[in-house]
Amino acid sequence: MAKSWTPDGWKNFEAKHLPVYEDENALDTAVDTLSSYPPLVFAGEARALKAELAEVTHGRGFLLQGGDCAESFAEFHPNNIRDTFRVLLQMAAVLTFASKQPVVKVGRMAGQFAKPRSAPTETIGGKELPSYLGDIINGIDFEDAQRRNDPERMIRAYSQSAATLNLLRAFAGGGYANLRQVHKWTLDFMGRSPWADKFRDIADRIGEALDFMEACGIDPENAPQLKSTSFYTSHEALLLPYEQALTRQDSLTGDWYDTSAHMLWIGDRTRFDGSAHVEFLRGVQNPIGMKCGPSLEPDALLRMLDTLNPGREAGRMTLISRYGHDKVEAGLPKLVRAVKREGHPVVWSCDPMHGNVIKSDSGYKTRPFDRILSEVKGFFAVHRAEGTHAGGIHVEMTGQDVTECTGGAVAITDERLADRYHTHCDPRLNAAQSLELSFLLAEMLNLEAQRQADAA
Ligand code: PEP
Ligand code: CO
Repeated sequence: MAKSWTPDGWKNFEAKHLPVYEDENALDTAVDTLSSYPPLVFAGEARALKAELAEVTHGRGFLLQGGDCAESFAEFHPNNIRDTFRVLLQMAAVLTFASKQPVVKVGRMAGQFAKPRSAPTETIGGKELPSYLGDIINGIDFEDAQRRNDPERMIRAYSQSAATLNLLRAFAGGGYANLRQVHKWTLDFMGRSPWADKFRDIADRIGEALDFMEACGIDPENAPQLKSTSFYTSHEALLLPYEQALTRQDSLTGDWYDTSAHMLWIGDRTRFDGSAHVEFLRGVQNPIGMKCGPSLEPDALLRMLDTLNPGREAGRMTLISRYGHDKVEAGLPKLVRAVKREGHPVVWSCDPMHGNVIKSDSGYKTRPFDRILSEVKGFFAVHRAEGTHAGGIHVEMTGQDVTECTGGAVAITDERLADRYHTHCDPRLNAAQSLELSFLLAEMLNLEAQRQADAA
């Protein structure tokens, strides 16, 4: 029988990675203020995403989830939002074409602020300060005042999320997502990419498909699908006071939804038995993601699934594996088998970022593009061997031309990392690397689509 649940019931459970605020009254005031603000998303939208993800659990679709590791107040600019959205659309077009399946688009945007950190403090030149926990909690500059946890930052993060979401909605529905235009951007990119030859075939075929449809009279003017798209938001549900404040009861169904985003996920460090984060997410009806790293045993995963999705609703759970390029093929199969054996409907998605962080010789935290690609290949190989659907990809990326991950067609070297290393946390794929990854993924999806057609 389901245990009773309340939005603040998580307080009776063990919470890791939650900030301690000096002034508890200030925290209560911020939570009260947020509780009185409008929801950012509507429950019906979260249900629509769940329905799209349910299709993916049945092998009919692919999830593309991507955006910043950490959004920041400093990088808040319409051009950044536009460029990341544009690259996600370009990636989605390539993936849709290759897989011949719908691609569900979810941004790590409009709320992805709070970060779990491996160490509680940071020491520079003999001075020790609390670690940076994300702009929604404290500041990144290495100064005493900046590193103090400030609940007022939640209000600013909410406002930034609202403005970001507003622009995303306008882009998705207002004509910016026109497939012709998206394809034109991709052709422009191809003109600059040293790997253009590798991608030419797929790009040409997408262009021909669009020409063919147009000749048949199907164009953006009469087929709204070519002009607009559905786009959803997501973030790690880490800062529970913020999530609680935005949790509302849906007036149509009476169910609870966390209206801070359409989809929320639980990080690799907060997904243990008895966790406050698991307790919180158990009670909201949004689609939920859970990161699955090397320390997760099959039994623990099954307990989590029973807790988070007792009704075994398709579309509710997305399992995001993040093993590392050299561990995925050995580690993932046991989870896949256990989930399959127990008949839990899940989307299996691959985060090829968080298990592949290294420190470069120049001292920067980076991720080699080769390792990212190699983890994706390993993920596909596991699912092919187990007869399960490789259902998604989860990436940290940006539409900007940053130099944070090494490799890719332009071959960003260790020495070049300093040029434009802007991330507020982990290194992201830049626009070109993101598109390159989608073309390489397209080859894998294409093979899977052919295999399915042959088997039918
Ligand atoms: C993240 O997605 O930013 C993250 C911290 O990942 P993980 O929980 O998998 O380490
Ligand atoms: Co990250």
